[in-house]
Amino acid sequence: MPEPDIKVVKDDFRVLICDDSIANVMLLSSLLEDEGLAQSKWLTDPKKVAEEIVKDDYDLLLLDIEMPHMTGIEVLQQLRRENLVDEFFPVLILTGRQDVETRHQALEAGAADYVNKPFDQVEVILRVRHLLNVRAAYKGQANLARRLESMVQERTAELSKATDVLVQRLAMAGELRDNETGNHVVRVGRFARILAEACGLPQDICFMIERAAPLHDLGKIGIPDSILLKKGKLDPEERKVMDTHAEIGAQLLEEHESALVSMAGSIALSHHERWDGTGYPKGLSGESIPIEGRITAVCDVFDALTTKRPYKPAWNLEETLEEIHKSAGSHLDPHLVQVFEDNLDKVLHVMRELSD
Ligand SMILES: [Fe+2]
Ligand SMILES: [Fe+2]
Repeated sequence: MPEPDIKVVKDDFRVLICDDSIANVMLLSSLLEDEGLAQSKWLTDPKKVAEEIVKDDYDLLLLDIEMPHMTGIEVLQQLRRENLVDEFFPVLILTGRQDVETRHQALEAGAADYVNKPFDQVEVILRVRHLLNVRAAYKGQANLARRLESMVQERTAELSKATDVLVQRLAMAGELRDNETGNHVVRVGRFARILAEACGLPQDICFMIERAAPLHDLGKIGIPDSILLKKGKLDPEERKVMDTHAEIGAQLLEEHESALVSMAGSIALSHHERWDGTGYPKGLSGESIPIEGRITAVCDVFDALTTKRPYKPAWNLEETLEEIHKSAGSHLDPHLVQVFEDNLDKVLHVMRELSD
């Protein structure tokens, strides 16, 4: 047989033949073998095609039309209907019927090409080569797409890790000026997530609250040392300056299209609002205070009370819980205080894990 000049890499290709005539499958098998397609397999029962094609990763199906129990058209329809092959999987129809209707049916059911029986061997091989060439191109594309996809995923994960670290370090930098330990902000973030989850907020929001809450006091980097580091009580003028840290933080974080940064801005602005409306900077009350701000307020108060600060010793757990309980409805959202108390075991677990 003359060697037509279409070349395919044959080693990796697997071809499945299904024809009820044993003579035909033998003939086709030896043709494929001569062609170097050693990894081919044949069946004479069309009902076994689906099972076989799922079991092994085939690249081409040579399929007879007229068979007992199930026609080739029905096999094709089954493969497509049950999604057993990808949409570009090539099927070469072998038919003794010359009528246009059968060909139309086969092509419509998703056949890529057809050859008439009795076979012209050169034609069969040329069509097989052509379909495998197309298959090779498709597989190459699919592999490339998969590689690119995994590269994008890797980079995205890397970027998100970097963002996590930067956000956390920025929060720590803000707190360090205040002589607070770095873990304070991490704990507040973790507590905030526990509360957000217990409130039934969606997972992506909980994720963002955990990362945004540590930035609540970022605005303190704009407060002069004489006030920020003063030992003892601030006078009313100094208190006013100190209170501007909420707005400074919000300014640093405002108007960014990242939802995470916007949430951090909202938390910075609202974490000193009080449920009864006596907080700052806006004097918001009740549910008009954003939920992320209310959640952070509970967590920040709890952590501030249980840790040592330059101006106060650490309170014990009992005193702290009593204080939090008393603040429900005045300083803090009473529902969130309830949720906090209900989830105290999780909070204490984080507290132990991240103690200073
Ligand atoms: Fe604050
Ligand atoms: Fe804080």
